[in-house]
Amino acid sequence: LLGAVSAAALMISAQAAQAQCDDGETVIKFSHVVAGSGHPKGDAATMLADRVNEEMNGKACMEVFPNSTLFDDDKALEALLIGDLQLAAPSLSKFEAYTLKYRLFDLPFLFSSLQSVDTFTASEQGKGLLTVMEDVGYTGLGYWLSGLKQFSANKPLMVPSDADGLKFRVQTSDVAVAMIEAMGASAQKLAFKEVYGALQTGVVDGQENTWSNIYTQKFFEVQDGITETNHQVLAYLLVTSTEWLNGLDDDVREQFLTLVEEVTAEANGNVAAKEAENRENILKAGGEIRELSPEQRQEWVSTMKPVWEQFEGDIGKDLIDAAASSNG
Ligand code: LMR
Repeated sequence: LLGAVSAAALMISAQAAQAQCDDGETVIKFSHVVAGSGHPKGDAATMLADRVNEEMNGKACMEVFPNSTLFDDDKALEALLIGDLQLAAPSLSKFEAYTLKYRLFDLPFLFSSLQSVDTFTASEQGKGLLTVMEDVGYTGLGYWLSGLKQFSANKPLMVPSDADGLKFRVQTSDVAVAMIEAMGASAQKLAFKEVYGALQTGVVDGQENTWSNIYTQKFFEVQDGITETNHQVLAYLLVTSTEWLNGLDDDVREQFLTLVEEVTAEANGNVAAKEAENRENILKAGGEIRELSPEQRQEWVSTMKPVWEQFEGDIGKDLIDAAASSNG
């Protein structure tokens, strides 16, 4: 039954996508997994679609499918390669099957702020990472920032040993698994759309995510509280198929890439405020947020940072040093 329902939902979505497009327009379908609005990625996707549909009318038309309604992140990456999808923005943690370089972004306590991430991604090394998957068919068009991550669980977590024996949902990232294991806890990789149910039914005890995801997915409702660890960045790669991009008419490609660049800059500029707002929204909705003393925070850093060494070979020490130096 579930299959039939989602097949029907897919057909409705697909019709919606086509309804907007006129004959001869390049169709740009963008699938993502987060809330359609009130979230850095949801809002950025809408902003891009609005500009494409307004400024490229007659040449291109773009439709956004939020909330995993079309694909989850793994399926979206496959769909790009077979032409069922033209744009996606999975988190950088979700590319392990295609490159190990992006493990960089998952290293705990690497970036101390969103500003540092912005500085690094704008550097030569950061920009160079956009094209490391072209041999497998993907081109990165830009980095969309989301926020620093916080831990939540079904009991208070003030120091890492409070997580002893608990199970945490992680993204499809071996760095995240290593980090959770360093805390004496266990990790389970799950798709984003399964997290709320897994927390609610006790399949996992906790998770780690940004304020925007914790608020818009209502994770705080099924957790004891959230600990403000800021332990890791969540950032996305706006990604397309290299073949599709190269196949566009030159004028269409150029105009599209200009819009992408402008929207990326504008959207990234709004992220910090949106994150702060969603932190506030959690408090207003009755969620519990726990702040760490400097000593407690130091315990999280000392527990997790040794994980860097395990992945240095995959990433390269030069890249780690370059990223770390962006903290200023
Ligand atoms: C997650 O799976 O937790 C995130 O990557 C979801 C997202 O896209 O923010």
